[in-house]
Amino acid sequence: MYSTSQSQLDEQFAQDIKEGLGSKSQKRVEPKYFYDTEGSHLFEEICVQPEYYPWRIEADILRRYSKRMTCSQDSSEITIIELGSGSSTKTRILLGEVLSRQASLFYFPIDVSKAMLCETRNKLSADYRNLRTIGISSDYVDGVDQANRLISADDQIPEKKLIIFLGSSIGNLEPEESISFLKKLRSKMDENDNLLIGIDLRKDRKVLEAAYNDEKGITARFNLNLLTRINRELRGEFDLDSFVHRAFYNSFNERVEMHIVSTKDQQVYVGRLDQTFSFDENETIHTENSYKYSSEQIRQMAYESEFVIKGDFFDTKRWFNVVLFSPA
Ligand code: AVJ
Repeated sequence: MYSTSQSQLDEQFAQDIKEGLGSKSQKRVEPKYFYDTEGSHLFEEICVQPEYYPWRIEADILRRYSKRMTCSQDSSEITIIELGSGSSTKTRILLGEVLSRQASLFYFPIDVSKAMLCETRNKLSADYRNLRTIGISSDYVDGVDQANRLISADDQIPEKKLIIFLGSSIGNLEPEESISFLKKLRSKMDENDNLLIGIDLRKDRKVLEAAYNDEKGITARFNLNLLTRINRELRGEFDLDSFVHRAFYNSFNERVEMHIVSTKDQQVYVGRLDQTFSFDENETIHTENSYKYSSEQIRQMAYESEFVIKGDFFDTKRWFNVVLFSPA
């Protein structure tokens, strides 16, 4: 496995928390920090909650169109790079499809969680004999660079890439950030490579809000796990009983927001930062945005980042969209 050094990651986490909780206006923490080992597992559990429609629906779309999503016109062999692979459960649909026509497949999952990458690689190698999994634990853009280097260095690995970015993870980015992110990916792709992205679409507020407030409280635990992580890794002293989960649809900005709400005036000391943070009653830490797009915006996004839409796949209710981008 290829990964960024742990001490570097720890230092980055400490600095980001110091800045995010120290903010004089809205306190915030980036959603990538949800995914420690516990958080990655909680996310897997969110995905199977009945209210969390994106996971199920995207899986249905992948099952239905896997051939067209992975097929290359010239029928040359492909290599798959996945951004934010997690447990790679849904990816298996695509891996299976490709392995039904190629003798072997090189698969480069990129994920922030090393523990998850190891676990996933072991499970995959037990289930697919002809799959070579090379995990990369880093941020996405560096991860793609790393994968590109490995692909060019080894002439056994097919050069033609399919990059996949599922689950509407792109929704975590600000709309303008998603354009610059897509442009960066574009610059790392050859003209025959493809990019498959899953994007959650706009829909009824009730459906959206239920998806982020599941009955069993798994999303709440996922959100609050961030405080547990700060307590453990940065010697924080958050009292988990005086913070609650909140998620709602912000229709003006067309996004679901997640916050952690302080239920009282309180001070919280964080040892590693040697700093105390004050919270007013009802003050929040903004932990996630999950943007919801329209088809028109997705077309615009492709255009602005210099891609053409080569395939456009939906479920029957049009709640979710999987789009195949190719360099314009
Ligand atoms: C992984 C970012 C797509 O925004 O729906 C699920 C994360 N947060 N429930 C999403 C998440 C709360 C998820 N993404």
